[in-house]
Amino acid sequence: MAKIVLQLTDIHLFANPAEIIRHCNTDDTLSAVLSQAKKDHFFKSLDAIILTGDLAQQGELEAYQRLANHITPLKCPTLWTPGNHDNLLSMKLGFHGNLPEQHHLILGCWQIILLNSLWPEHVAGQLSDIELVKLQLLLDQNAHLNTLIGLHHPYADPYDTSNNANLLDQPERFLTVLKTHAHISAIVAGHIHQDTDTFIKGYRQITTPSTCFQFREEQGKIIVDPAIPPGYRWLILHDDGTLETEARYLS
Ligand SMILES: [Fe+2]
Ligand SMILES: [Fe+2]
Repeated sequence: MAKIVLQLTDIHLFANPAEIIRHCNTDDTLSAVLSQAKKDHFFKSLDAIILTGDLAQQGELEAYQRLANHITPLKCPTLWTPGNHDNLLSMKLGFHGNLPEQHHLILGCWQIILLNSLWPEHVAGQLSDIELVKLQLLLDQNAHLNTLIGLHHPYADPYDTSNNANLLDQPERFLTVLKTHAHISAIVAGHIHQDTDTFIKGYRQITTPSTCFQFREEQGKIIVDPAIPPGYRWLILHDDGTLETEARYLS
């Protein structure tokens, strides 16, 4: 039977739940996204949740504690990884006891691996040697499994421009490890607050809209698009190794 995964990304919660960013209260949009997702037919068969970074805007403990309060009642295995706005120590403390630190999950003939691309003091991401060794080990140990990888930073610009400055640094190090595994189905990311699904540099890269505001980058400037609602993504992992996916927006 297909495995169903819900991706939530770029939640950008603040310590103060009343805070507004870009005309958006991120607690309210997260609540609205979760209540809509619960009504989707996929929710009844939910197998895992992945949280792919920028879970807090300023990395504050209280934001992670409140996020755990939103996610824990769903009673579903949850993997999480930081983005450039996160503070890993605060995340671990804020999630402690509710959302255990877990980066790997086997679901039938699939494995999900989440990687930490947080590069302190940078908007761009970087995978440390340790993350790459972890990835290599999991791929080697589970060579027979179809693999979905999640991280915050896309490894390539989905529009294939040369504007990679704020994405994953040295993506070739990541791609070199991926080449050793025959069953990489997709790499899912956040960070750019956009729905894209492209085949690029040999792999399927999917990026997902934020649960709060969406933007695009034009000549180095962030242009927020208030016409695009908060969003989330369903990933359907079929037994034959194919992956279907659908980004949904608040309606
Ligand atoms: Fe973000
Ligand atoms: Fe980000």
